[in-house]
Amino acid sequence: MATTASIARVIGEEVLDSRGNPTVQVTVVLDDGSHASATVPSGASTGESEAVEIRDGDRRRYGGKGVLTAVRHVNELIGPALIGLLADDQWRIDAVLIELDGTDFKSRLGANATLGASLACARVAAQACRLPLFRYLGGDEARVLPTPLLNVLDGGIHGTGGPDLQEFMLVPLGAPTFREALRYGVESYHALRDLLLERRGTTNVGDEGGFVPVLPSNVAALDLMMQAIERAGYRPGEDIALAVDFAAAGLWHDGRYRLELEGRGLSAEDMGGLCREWSERYPLVSVEDPLMDNDWDGYARLTRELGDRMQIAGDDLFVSNRSFLVKGVAQRCCNCVVIKPNQVGTVTETLNTARMALAAGYSCMVAHRSGDTEDTSIADLAVALNCGQIKAGAPARGERVAKYNRLLTIESSLGNAARYAGREAFGRRR
Ligand code: PGA
Ligand code: ZN
Repeated sequence: MATTASIARVIGEEVLDSRGNPTVQVTVVLDDGSHASATVPSGASTGESEAVEIRDGDRRRYGGKGVLTAVRHVNELIGPALIGLLADDQWRIDAVLIELDGTDFKSRLGANATLGASLACARVAAQACRLPLFRYLGGDEARVLPTPLLNVLDGGIHGTGGPDLQEFMLVPLGAPTFREALRYGVESYHALRDLLLERRGTTNVGDEGGFVPVLPSNVAALDLMMQAIERAGYRPGEDIALAVDFAAAGLWHDGRYRLELEGRGLSAEDMGGLCREWSERYPLVSVEDPLMDNDWDGYARLTRELGDRMQIAGDDLFVSNRSFLVKGVAQRCCNCVVIKPNQVGTVTETLNTARMALAAGYSCMVAHRSGDTEDTSIADLAVALNCGQIKAGAPARGERVAKYNRLLTIESSLGNAARYAGREAFGRRR
């Protein structure tokens, strides 16, 4: 289905993300009266080569984090360039944005400006075509509900005072449907809360809704998750597996990966050894960013050694950018790409990277950012790609739950056509 409506107005605005930091919201109005908005998320543990997020730097407003410059780019540069274009010509819309920006990493307009506009165009076009966003982007084949990776323990810079690792996730891959998977995850998350309370630990949550307990080691976090799964009545490994995001760039000090809790400094080889050791003790299906984002050789080695037993996901390494993925595929680095639209700045580029990854035999994990909003586009994106994995935080905090709720709605709307990715999302690996 298509629409003949064209873009009539593009309106940028400064709103807030889940950390209370300013972010860009864009509303696009078509000449048939349809209108829709998109709101851009923002990371904290960002990869070195992510597309540029323009912040004002004016310390008198929001500590320099205002986005009025990016908003002005939407209103004064992007709007005039897009007005008159056919709403459903996403490729053309994004090509215009890329050309207007003219830089490799969206440093002129800001990826926060381009993504807001690109995503709002996709949303409004879907509406004008009377299609849900996942179907507009993914066509009739879009029907795989992703296995959620629920971040239930936050550490690193998302949960200061907690574990060294940034994210400890529950992966309910043994559930029959997405709805059941979410229930498995929520019940285990609540069991985890009870366990923490029994130990008189805190149940405060971090940026992504995971608890931030004070623990003696990182392994203690994995042990707690295993207990929580069992307490909730599930079988670790069979019903619910585990995943972690090391966000290793944040652990790197003085030439070693520092696990402060354990008082250990690890080399790249040691990190590989640690992943192996943990995968022998725990049902660990995915490790994200176990190394620095410039250690391509280290990644190639680690993937050679461990790639057949677990998913090795590159987030900061690929920054959702096709050219980095090309290099990664050539050197056989990782076997999964984390997909975050704001790392690259347009819908088309995001889809291209993900589709190339899938075609190369890599898995794709569509993901939120630690500073996120009520925008649920990534839920639709994951279904549109049939990629089978989504990481959207804990089943707590509105901006996280919004994505999971959106997936519940999509699953219901698909009826019998819906398929839950489950274990298959992780391929041959466990
Ligand atoms: P970020 O963290 O959004 O702060 O970059 C998420 C991640 O590293 O996966
Ligand atoms: Zn990450």
